[in-house]
Amino acid sequence: MSTVRILIDAAALHERIGALGREIRTFYGDEPIVCIGVLKGSFIFMADLVRAIGGDVRCAFLGVSSYEGTQSTGEVRITHDLAASIRDAHVLIVEDIVDTGLTLAYLRRTLAVRGPATLRIATLLDKPSRRKQPVDVEFVGFTIPDLFVVGFGLDLDEAYRNLPFVGVFDPES
Ligand code: IMP
Repeated sequence: MSTVRILIDAAALHERIGALGREIRTFYGDEPIVCIGVLKGSFIFMADLVRAIGGDVRCAFLGVSSYEGTQSTGEVRITHDLAASIRDAHVLIVEDIVDTGLTLAYLRRTLAVRGPATLRIATLLDKPSRRKQPVDVEFVGFTIPDLFVVGFGLDLDEAYRNLPFVGVFDPES
């Protein structure tokens, strides 16, 4: 039988996301921020983060899918695009986890050409040891080792997204 071992519990998530939100608001001052959640994994982090940031925050969502053909190349595609222009906006991409970096490197390139005033990234989790493509990530919740994690929005074949903690999926146990 498979189990999920807690890696980051609900209290630690709450505390860190609160601090991250305050850091982001301080960084932007009173400027309006357009937070763009990357579906589906970011939806729980996004909900907590935008409340922690406070002030003038607008919410938008992007759907992406990624295919990994070989070990070194990955193809990312937008499956659900933004409904409104981001021209001249302070855009903050909100992601669940940075793994190979392919998704965020693609999103940075794709959104940059739409003319935002600024473009930055906030991620709940970062697995730097897995990086295949370098990507600047300005706001990181937790740096974690090379583990497959689920919960708090992250899934395994669509399951486990609703766990209130981040856990390590352990198929052996
Ligand atoms: P990338 O490899 O940085 O492009 O990450 C793409 C996506 O892979 C992330 O947004 C997640 O949806 C998914 N992903 C990467 N690592 C994990 C994990 O440990 N658990 C669940 N999903 C993951």
